[in-house]
Amino acid sequence: MDVIDLINRKRRHEELSREEISFLVEGYTAGQIPDYQMAAFLMAVCLNEMTDEETIALTFTMRDSGKIMDLSEVPGLKVDKHSTGGVGDKTTISLIPIVSAAGVPCAKLSGRGLGFTGGTIDKLECFPGFRTDLSDEEFVSQVKTIGAAISGQTGDLTPADRKIYALRDTTGTVESIPLIASSIMSKKLASGADRIVLDVKTGAGAFMKTKEDAEKLARTMTALGRLADRQVSCFITDMNEPLGNAVGNVYEVIEAVKMLSGEGPEDYRELVLSLAAEMIFLGGKAANIDEGRRMAQKAVSDGSALEQLCRIVSSQGSDEKYVRNPGLLKTAEKTAVFTAPEAGFIEGIQAELIGRAEEALGGGRATKEDIIDLSVGMMLLKKTGDPVQKGEPLMEIHYNNENKLETALELIRKAYAIGLADPGRKKVILMRPEDFV
Ligand code: URA
Repeated sequence: MDVIDLINRKRRHEELSREEISFLVEGYTAGQIPDYQMAAFLMAVCLNEMTDEETIALTFTMRDSGKIMDLSEVPGLKVDKHSTGGVGDKTTISLIPIVSAAGVPCAKLSGRGLGFTGGTIDKLECFPGFRTDLSDEEFVSQVKTIGAAISGQTGDLTPADRKIYALRDTTGTVESIPLIASSIMSKKLASGADRIVLDVKTGAGAFMKTKEDAEKLARTMTALGRLADRQVSCFITDMNEPLGNAVGNVYEVIEAVKMLSGEGPEDYRELVLSLAAEMIFLGGKAANIDEGRRMAQKAVSDGSALEQLCRIVSSQGSDEKYVRNPGLLKTAEKTAVFTAPEAGFIEGIQAELIGRAEEALGGGRATKEDIIDLSVGMMLLKKTGDPVQKGEPLMEIHYNNENKLETALELIRKAYAIGLADPGRKKVILMRPEDFV
């Protein structure tokens, strides 16, 4: 097969066969096809899309490019969850303790943050000594003994996606429905769970800017799961403004722990409890979603989810004292307050700009190699729909370096829109699994 011929055919909107897609992916992963040819192919896909058959071939070739996690030793249905990424998204840290406290085993592989979106693995490393590099044996053994583990994805799982994703990240080829769907689903299928809950984010701070595109992505991923005999449930959720009030690794961990103590912002609680209800139902522990939700609420109110987080944190090398008293976690040295430049209603808080402000403070990485400062971040004191007076505090900024604060402030100023009309509160959940008929 000739790589240039395949690129040309994709450019001319022609459909490639399974063998041709596998040839490209396997050749690139093995280092036989150079970056520039793969980048040209990916750009042709971004512009001309892929047929269903091509997307299936890409997903399954990437899934099979490395090891497939074997969770057969863990009894019961294993349910995984994945978010397409956003700002302030600390969902996993509350969700996994709740779902596993309700009896559904959770073997969660998570990633690090890149660009303006955060990653669960960075957040968990705020617990001093927390290990995110569990071996397969340690990972499975912990799920068997305490019901849950959250670890970083190892290099031998979907190496093709790892290499292609890094190339997409530097060639403007991330935002493509078939490429995102195959990237996410290849990893989820290789992670070994029986059932998968997907949180597809939409809005200014997400890859999918419109609800229509988010729905298309959700339907593509559901179909890919079905072809691999996995049940997939999708939520479409808002990522125009950050989720919850905390943005920044340690502040998000503190907010996630507080949620397990029955506190925390309403949008975050609603999302976590809705995802948990679905996972508990799919895991066969509840007869329906309503019962799943009651079980999730009970795990929070009776303290069992908080105890479960304590177990996860101490089992992975840190100390449960940080869960019982999150005030012990290391936070930034200085605090600045950003105030309202005028009176009115908050019309919007652009998530992407807030994510970039966190990155500017040192809390996010521009390249995979960057070392990040886990102690910096922001607390939103007002959200969309809140009335404000001129000079009223809108946000606390926790920082360590004055120059970085200045850069962050420029982005924060642009992120807020204040108007005279009350826009109402933003709904966090735009579509639930039952809305996909
Ligand atoms: N997350 C992924 O894992 N892959 C993508 O392509 C986009 C988001």
